[in-house]
Amino acid sequence: MADFRENIIPQSYIIERQDRIERYKHHALVVWFVGLSGSGKSTLANALENNLFNKGYKTYILDGDNIRRGLNKDLDFSELGRKENIRRISEVARLFADSGTIVLTAFISPFKADRASARKLIGREDFVEVYVDCPLGVCEQRDVKGLYKKAREGKIRHFTGINSPFEIPESPDVRIDTASNSLDACLKQLIEEIEPRIKR
Ligand code: ADX
Repeated sequence: MADFRENIIPQSYIIERQDRIERYKHHALVVWFVGLSGSGKSTLANALENNLFNKGYKTYILDGDNIRRGLNKDLDFSELGRKENIRRISEVARLFADSGTIVLTAFISPFKADRASARKLIGREDFVEVYVDCPLGVCEQRDVKGLYKKAREGKIRHFTGINSPFEIPESPDVRIDTASNSLDACLKQLIEEIEPRIKR
């Protein structure tokens, strides 16, 4: 029997990417933050969005803790659950970028292959991988959500860095060291890296 997908025909739109770029006066982009829980992804995404939004850019944040309470609430933290989490977010991020929005995603995204798939789907020129680099020991010491303590007590399965792997990004587009730099310094570095890619 033929695949049902054969009967799905792509539709084209009158309004295209270039129309949106001209309307919003900037390019769209996916800024993909990668890092351990507690490394500072959400904090940096918020600081960057606040800065860009107040300059008039059209922005939006997709954050793991929020998306996992809605769209992805059916997914667990197993390898398969995380893979599907990142796959769906890649698709959503692509839609937002297509709408002309600068998307900031804050997901641990621990697996190299899933990050590579996201980059491929979104397109190399529209995708910036930002590695929020912070040693496990520092994240664990901060333990803002109290989850590392719970994980050490054996109360959380598959906790990234404790009993689930984190594959370090080898060649991210941007690396931010949140353990040795202030939030202001990290934000400054991010703006310098990101803004030229969206300005026109
Ligand atoms: S990802 O690995 O699939 O990319 P995601 O970013 O969506 O993870 O969710 C991570 C957030 O969920 C963490 O910041 C933390 O607050 C919470 N969390 C709950 N359980 C786990 C777990 N087992 N491993 C990591 N994070 C967890």
